[in-house]
Amino acid sequence: MNDPHKNEHWLYGKKVDNINPNIIQRMNSLGLDKVAINTYDSVKQMAQCIEECFDPSMIKQSEKVVDSVVESLSKSNNILSTINRMICADPSLYNHSALVSIVCGVIANKINPTGFSGNFIQEAVKCGLFHDVGKSKISSTILLKEGKLTDEEFNEIKKHPKQGYIELKDLSELGKYVSMVALQHHERFDGTGYPHGKKGRYEDSDNGINIFSRICTIADVYAALIAKRSYKEAYSNEKTLDIMLKNMLNHFDPELLRVFINELKNSNVVNIIQDKPSTPDYKKLTIKFKA
Ligand SMILES: [Fe+2]
Ligand SMILES: [Fe+2]
Repeated sequence: MNDPHKNEHWLYGKKVDNINPNIIQRMNSLGLDKVAINTYDSVKQMAQCIEECFDPSMIKQSEKVVDSVVESLSKSNNILSTINRMICADPSLYNHSALVSIVCGVIANKINPTGFSGNFIQEAVKCGLFHDVGKSKISSTILLKEGKLTDEEFNEIKKHPKQGYIELKDLSELGKYVSMVALQHHERFDGTGYPHGKKGRYEDSDNGINIFSRICTIADVYAALIAKRSYKEAYSNEKTLDIMLKNMLNHFDPELLRVFINELKNSNVVNIIQDKPSTPDYKKLTIKFKA
């Protein structure tokens, strides 16, 4: 008799489709953290909806997803390593905004802000989830183009921070930092970014970059480098970190980069890295938040 469940595949008690059974077997044998898997699954679904066609009605739904990330971060230290191993085992599980969102939460979890009235981690996760919403306004022909972009096409993509800001700025339920991060996440610490060439920390100067944007910049570059893109292969965590430290060091807030590197090391995502910049052991980075 035919078994109706013959072609079903299960991963940690959840039925999954479209994944190669060998990969499922491999992931089940990795001993991954179930809470982290489920959290990633819900963030990924939410991120896909936001990327495909953002609609303000999604904000309410996104709050639950953001809360689940915050809860997972408080329960488990394994979220970063789990997601990393899942994506390495099956690159089709990669979703850019989902990974950025979680990495933002991982970094924010190690910061002690004074003078911030809300939930700092929650805000960072939310900012990561919506950071590239402006890309939904860019032609998919350009976004999905195989190979190198022309200057004209690249200039088109560079419009997405402003597009995202326009999309989000009047949605008061999201608060002001989400639209600010959509606008600022391609700014660089040394002032060479876009759209406004902001430089340094907003806590130090009015022309500086907001803390949530500085966190998101690190998460965004990391997530882009470890992923396979039409113009590049997926890089290992070691290679990713090497590029960030050797070629892009001045793009990031050095204090926040140290926090992130410490987290990669503590969660065994990277084994051997060169300590550049040096990574002192501290429990939490204290910043004086400027609204
Ligand atoms: Fe972006
Ligand atoms: Fe991005």
